[in-house]
Amino acid sequence: MPQLEDAKCSFLFCLGICIFICSIIYLKTTVFDTPQAKSRILTCRPFPQHCPALGHSRNGTRWQSTECHLEGYFMAPVLNCTQMWSDFHFITRTLSKEEEEYPLAFIITIHKELETFVRLLRAIYAPHNVYCIHVDRKAPEDYKKSVQLLAGCFDNVFLATVSERVTYAGFSRLQADINCMSDLVKSSVRWRKVINLCGQDFPIQSNLELVRYMQSKEWRDRNMTPGIKQPKDKRYRTEFQYVEADDSYVVQHKRGHKKSLPPHNLQIYFGTAYYSLTRAFVQFVLESPVAKDFLEWSKDTFSPDEHYWVTLNHIKDAPGSHLNGGWEGDIRAIKWKDQEGTTHNGCKGHYIRDICIYSIEDIPWIINKQSMFANKFGIETFPDALHCLEQWHRLKVLQQAAVPIQPSWHLAHEVDTSQCCNNTAGLKSNLLFLS
Ligand SMILES: *[C@@H]1O[C@H](CO)[C@@H](O)[C@H](O)[C@H]1NC(C)=O
Ligand SMILES: *[C@@H]1O[C@H](CO)[C@@H](O)[C@H](O)[C@H]1NC(C)=O
Ligand SMILES: *[C@@H]1O[C@H](CO)[C@@H](O)[C@H](O)[C@H]1NC(C)=O
Repeated sequence: MPQLEDAKCSFLFCLGICIFICSIIYLKTTVFDTPQAKSRILTCRPFPQHCPALGHSRNGTRWQSTECHLEGYFMAPVLNCTQMWSDFHFITRTLSKEEEEYPLAFIITIHKELETFVRLLRAIYAPHNVYCIHVDRKAPEDYKKSVQLLAGCFDNVFLATVSERVTYAGFSRLQADINCMSDLVKSSVRWRKVINLCGQDFPIQSNLELVRYMQSKEWRDRNMTPGIKQPKDKRYRTEFQYVEADDSYVVQHKRGHKKSLPPHNLQIYFGTAYYSLTRAFVQFVLESPVAKDFLEWSKDTFSPDEHYWVTLNHIKDAPGSHLNGGWEGDIRAIKWKDQEGTTHNGCKGHYIRDICIYSIEDIPWIINKQSMFANKFGIETFPDALHCLEQWHRLKVLQQAAVPIQPSWHLAHEVDTSQCCNNTAGLKSNLLFLS
């Protein structure tokens, strides 16, 4: 009898949901306390059903992602790389000639959240680019091991040979980038520009779009270091001496103890720590006495990465310099707290150190910005935002590809949910994983 069958279906469906909810409550109060269990469950979370970037899904279908395991995966003693590329949807082919002819180098500084890193890496990965990963020396051993294991599956991904204990706003943050640059100039990849990223960044542009942007009339052969002449209210950063304390913050060295003037009569600029730099400029940074003296002088300043690149980029002799450059360059979409109501309509997630950690409702603003990257994302707090942007980004990348698409390159697929029993089966398989 069809009615009876329907009732049975509905009953099973409700039962499935009840068991699911109860399990979640149970896990939340018990197992969730251990960090390992937490990450294991988080990585199997369902795909957000209202991802504003993707529009409305067709009637009776929803997106489902295909991976349910991550942290544990990279704890294995050895990895089958072919399997890993496929399991994590890495695009291991160059997607166009245009991209191949303009290799990029990336510096990524990370210290936590392996899952976020994997998502970032697979979004920017291309086999002809090169990636230097700087893992904070303070990071836990198994985190480093996992990153090492992952990097071991690629010829063009490596860990920085010298790694720093990175302090927020400290010199170590700048030194980390420079360590990677020393490694990158020795790489066999003929990269044209280097871009730096932190673990909480995520791309908005595809690799192809980045390549086109880097080659546009405005930026070809030119470094992008958004910033201006140091304003009065930032002078304290280079006027007094600072030291890194307890590996976690920076304090003024001696009250009232002033620093000497910058070497070579350099005019100090203030800007973002993010850049895209030409290879010739990187050589200049590593070799020129001006850059080296300035680096030495910057060691006891506050947040030197926010003045070092932009100041050097205003030196006439520096290759690719931008003497009358200001804030130009769509390098990052960031919602600063003090720009609420001017550049953005408020943070839908929450602010940490006056920077918005995006929630899924911030996605339309991010996409609209068309910047190279957006900052910041936190998989622990707002996983859906990253999930949603990632899927949008991947669909765009695949759409632009000039080669046939491999099935494993899809991060998620649309599944039919119009029938009750299939859905229950889906919930059941989630439950199996959770238990
Ligand atoms: C989805 O189904 C509803 C109700 O049957 C219908 O009104 C709506 O137009 C459908 N939407 C799409 C996109 O097919
Ligand atoms: C690795 O995985 C691939 C794809 O699943 C498989 O074909 C291959 O045999 C595996 N290699 C080893 C050494 O296990
Ligand atoms: C749902 O189940 C029916 C029969 O049980 C099957 O024919 C159909 O393909 C399934 N749909 C999906 C999306 O798995």
